Amino acid sequence: MKYGINMTASKIRGFGMKKTITVCLIACIIFYLVFHFYTSGPVSSVTLPYSLEETISRRLSTRNYISVDISSQQLLDVLWAAYGYANAHRSAPLIGYDHSLIIFPVNATGSYQYIPENNSLVTHDLSVNKETIRSHDQGWPSDASAVLVVVWNSTKMSNGFFASAEAGCFVQNVYLAAASLDLGTCCVGYIESAGLRSDLGLSDDLTPLLVMPLGYPADPYPPASPNYDMMTGNLPPVQYSNMSFKEATANVTFAHHWTAENLSQQELSQLLWATYGYTNVTHDSTYHRTTPSAYGIYPLVIFVSNATGVYQYLPETHSVVELLSGDKRWEMEKTCSVQTWAADAPALFLVAYNSSYNNGDTGDGGAVSHEFIEVDSGAAVQQLFLEASAFNLSANIVSNSLETWNGATAEELRNILNLPQSLIPLYLIPIGHKTTTPIHDVAAANITPSQTMVIAGTTLDINVTIQNLGDYVENCSLTLYANATVIGNQTVHNFLDGTTSTLTFTWNTIGFEMGNYTLAASIEPVPDETNTDNNSLDDIQIIIIPEFSTAVLVLLMLATFLIVIAYKNKLGCLRLSLR
Ligand SMILES: Cc1cc2nc3c(=O)[nH]c(=O)nc-3n(C[C@H](O)[C@H](O)[C@H](O)COP(=O)(O)O)c2cc1C
Repeated sequence: MKYGINMTASKIRGFGMKKTITVCLIACIIFYLVFHFYTSGPVSSVTLPYSLEETISRRLSTRNYISVDISSQQLLDVLWAAYGYANAHRSAPLIGYDHSLIIFPVNATGSYQYIPENNSLVTHDLSVNKETIRSHDQGWPSDASAVLVVVWNSTKMSNGFFASAEAGCFVQNVYLAAASLDLGTCCVGYIESAGLRSDLGLSDDLTPLLVMPLGYPADPYPPASPNYDMMTGNLPPVQYSNMSFKEATANVTFAHHWTAENLSQQELSQLLWATYGYTNVTHDSTYHRTTPSAYGIYPLVIFVSNATGVYQYLPETHSVVELLSGDKRWEMEKTCSVQTWAADAPALFLVAYNSSYNNGDTGDGGAVSHEFIEVDSGAAVQQLFLEASAFNLSANIVSNSLETWNGATAEELRNILNLPQSLIPLYLIPIGHKTTTPIHDVAAANITPSQTMVIAGTTLDINVTIQNLGDYVENCSLTLYANATVIGNQTVHNFLDGTTSTLTFTWNTIGFEMGNYTLAASIEPVPDETNTDNNSLDDIQIIIIPEFSTAVLVLLMLATFLIVIAYKNKLGCLRLSLR
């Protein structure tokens, strides 16, 4: 025994101090790595080998999380897919005239801002962490490793409905990115926006719209597929494409021109299911669907218009019913100003809101706010883009003229499609096979004066939005007219294909007569441009009214004149009654 002890002691002594330190160091490193892995999750995220449709089928809202942190790589992977740059375009389509969201990821270490341009995070405020925002984000989202605060920057794009729809695209991407990484998330719209703004120290122009927790779910995802049991209708069963969610995101293309080839029944089936179909995963004995919905009310109706008619999608049986026969695409697109290019797509999808799912609210009084309906619709729109991409189709979105909730264009679309008042058209999405022959095509899209009435001799700011709908980088020259008089001319150099540019003109009205003027914008055709119908636009009326001082003078003289008359009449009456 003694020997034995001596042997051991001498063995340790013989091992040497250096070796002992090395062993201790290795043990420490192993301990650190195990500990770090446990607390931070995998250092680089692995996208699971699901096809897009399988990932869509897994989508569900997670409200319980385990306290394990996700890695910064996982966070960046989700943010890239949700709002980053893929092939020079953003992963969420442009709704309105600019992308207007800022994403603030908040975790235990502080709050950060996502920079899409280089897919990175910069520190926002290390003293504001997920515990700081817990009282304003419903509480439970802060149990997840990170909370994404989605903020609308109204100085970038002023239409709040479009911002909410864009947030919906972001939301859908986060759900799918999370599902493809085995992470959980949920769209949380019922937040205290002002409280979050103050927590994060944001200015009044920045409005938190919703938050999304992101972390490891307490319950693993169940096996999932499209709901084939419900697919009893006239559309073929959904198939799995060869693309993952990540590949589909990178493959999205935005088109303004398509070949004449019609969509196949299979393509139509895929697109409609992805937009609003059912999966085979249940929660409280109801099936989940491909997109989330505020309160789970699913108030959207999806229509598709092609050369033969207009059809409504029925998700419950995965079928379409004919609403109208005949080609309505051109008529529908004509309602949206110069967006008639969209009518060339073989399929024109319409996302509409059925207010009877929301206390019949066509105004602003339903249980679910219009902003939430817009988030729902953005998620459906995003699904169209992704599923189109997985089948090598190209899509676009038309929001021009649909800026106002239930406005004049919505009414026109309703009339064309014989829809009831309870249905509110929201967005048009043309989809088809992208043309392989590149073309030149620039267009004047919008003229927006700062006001429609201007006092003679003062100035008026006018924004003109132009689009490069072709496939080449262009240099183009635009002239703005008031009736036949030139207000100004501007040249845009290196105008990238598929992009929009807004030019600001200042009209000095000195020397212009009072009266009505029509503003007209005209772009000189670029070399080899054949479609020049959309180069000009003249739909804005401006009235020049008298200078303020003259107007006041006229009014004062008129008022004095009336007072004198009235006074004279009164004196006359008095004299009569005295007699
Ligand atoms: C605009 C919007 C707001 C939502 N707000 C909340 C919320 O505040 N709290 C919550 O728990 N879930 C919220 N949800 C998630 C929905 O409740 C959920 O999508 C719906 O019940 C369907 O369930 P599923 O996503 O698990 O399929 C919201 C979803 C959307 C689209």
